[in-house]
Amino acid sequence: MRKTVIVTGAASGIGLACTKLLHERGAKVVAFDPQFEKLNQNIPSSDNISKYKGDVTSENDCIDVIHHTTTHFGSLDGLIHCGAAHSSLRWNELEPEEMNRILNINVTGTFQIARAAANEMTKSEKGSIVLTTSASILFGVTGGNGQGGPAYASSKGGVLALTRCLARSLGPKGIRVNAVSPGITNTPMIAHYTEEKKQTMKERFPLGRFAEPKEIAEGALFLISDAASFMTGENMHINGGSNFGS
Ligand SMILES: NC(=O)c1ccc[n+]([C@@H]2O[C@H](COP(=O)([O-])OP(=O)(O)OC[C@H]3O[C@@H](n4cnc5c(N)ncnc54)[C@H](O)[C@@H]3O)[C@@H](O)[C@H]2O)c1
Repeated sequence: MRKTVIVTGAASGIGLACTKLLHERGAKVVAFDPQFEKLNQNIPSSDNISKYKGDVTSENDCIDVIHHTTTHFGSLDGLIHCGAAHSSLRWNELEPEEMNRILNINVTGTFQIARAAANEMTKSEKGSIVLTTSASILFGVTGGNGQGGPAYASSKGGVLALTRCLARSLGPKGIRVNAVSPGITNTPMIAHYTEEKKQTMKERFPLGRFAEPKEIAEGALFLISDAASFMTGENMHINGGSNFGS
């Protein structure tokens, strides 16, 4: 893939899998994450990968990483935004401050990084943006036992609405905006699920297991690629059939 792509949340889980797969397939990658040490530990050094310590809640970081990318690699073709915060608090445990913190990272942060990328892409009138939502918005989640709760699911619902709004605004400028919607995926984000919860969830999935990060990355790479050139405003479900569960 001859493209330059920024991946956020690149130090871990799905973002890390996207970074590795893009690199394997010949892309140039700017790996963005607030956890710089983890970026260094998990991602090998390569002329085609540049690591950037950044946080999507900082508008400065979002604007600066675009400048960093075009200076380093000469262009920006794609953004895969995986960085996010999880919250498993139940409705009666969740304080408004915590709700706002999650919405700030997951919705406002998504808006800031997507807008910064779109501002650059409008110069060449082409580009592709992939945001990350979650299967939890399909059936609602209670929180507890380590699983996502109302703050997390609400934030991911916001990301889906944002995907569609941006797709409408940016389509005429040659920029596609889509989302991937993972089901439960084996990453540090689900580390706090209890064994009992994991077992119950797996039973709901026709495929009987959780996703591996690479299986979600494959979907994101397809959406970023020219093979998806007529897709925009879509939400690609990759969830082992969990939305058909009881
Ligand atoms: N793992 C799952 O079961 C699952 C299910 C549905 C959706 N998702 C979504 O997939 C995406 C990737 O999740 P994951 O499972 O790989 O999680 P993860 O916890 O393994 O990785 C998340 C990464 O995001 C980074 N991050 C956190 N706050 C950030 C910020 N403010 N700015 C930039 N980066 C930040 C973290 O440092 C971390 O490296 C997330 O958007 C998540 O909500 C995950």
